[in-house]
Amino acid sequence: METSPRPAIVTTIADLRWAVGAARKDQKRIGFVPTMGALHEGHLSLVRASQAECQYTVVSIYVNPAQFGPKEDFARYPRTLQADLEKLAGVGADLAFCPSDAEVYPVGFSTWVEVEGVAEPLEGQCRPGHFRGVATVVLKLLNMVQPDVAYFGQKDYQQALVIRRMVADLNVPVEVRVCPTVREPDGLAMSSRNSYLSPQGRQKALVLWKSLQLAAELVRQAERDAATIIARMRQTILTVEDAQIDYIALVDPETLAPVEKITAPVLAALAIRIEGTRLIDNCLLEP
Ligand code: PAJ
Repeated sequence: METSPRPAIVTTIADLRWAVGAARKDQKRIGFVPTMGALHEGHLSLVRASQAECQYTVVSIYVNPAQFGPKEDFARYPRTLQADLEKLAGVGADLAFCPSDAEVYPVGFSTWVEVEGVAEPLEGQCRPGHFRGVATVVLKLLNMVQPDVAYFGQKDYQQALVIRRMVADLNVPVEVRVCPTVREPDGLAMSSRNSYLSPQGRQKALVLWKSLQLAAELVRQAERDAATIIARMRQTILTVEDAQIDYIALVDPETLAPVEKITAPVLAALAIRIEGTRLIDNCLLEP
């Protein structure tokens, strides 16, 4: 018998439901990895995590206009569908869901998901409306795919927290997994936006990881004062010519409330612009 090509590609919700329904009928556990494409090893690590515990893995590729601000990079966000599909074939993902804007946001669309609390600080402050767009599209995608498990990356720590909150609050029947950040060999967190950087910018971008490592080292040396650590991180960032700081924060890993004295694990999170490209990274610091 001929096996059908992997991944199968669907663009409509009806075809998606048909394919996933068939897999579920075969008693397969359904894993789901939502993405905006321009796939890299970070995305593929989520696909592998799904394959480790699910028998059928769906990957969505959709650049969601609702989560970009009017002055953000929606128009130039990298769109590399052919390469993405080859990468998904390489890891053996089962289904790629690549819907159009009209499929996701039909005429008359007017319902939005607003998560309060964890969506408000950090990215929420710098990117008004961003998490409203993310929460709305992720809930829609979860309703379309109806997976057993959905996979997210720690790279977007606050996003994962917002989605966990939404899933709990709205009783969405899915297990949420958050997987470790995949980095380049030199420490730069993989991101579709890294492709905007010039070779010089790419070198400068290492300063995010350097400042996170410095924070971890200071905590290891028993520094417990958040303001001191943030000041040292800021100094490190500002060694790079024309790096702009959106925020550098030490926060409670559950609530994202600012921490002053480090007595329990804290999240160090930062957003920095290099050559106009906005990069984020984070790491947990354990005293
Ligand atoms: P995107 O930026 O394409 O990321 C898709 C998923 O890959 C997210 O869960 C993100 O955290 C994860 N990811 C990105 N870089 C990673 C890395 N270096 N290591 C590990 N995981 C990484 O995040 C989005 O798309 C969108 O907001 C989306 C959730 C798809 C909603 O539109």
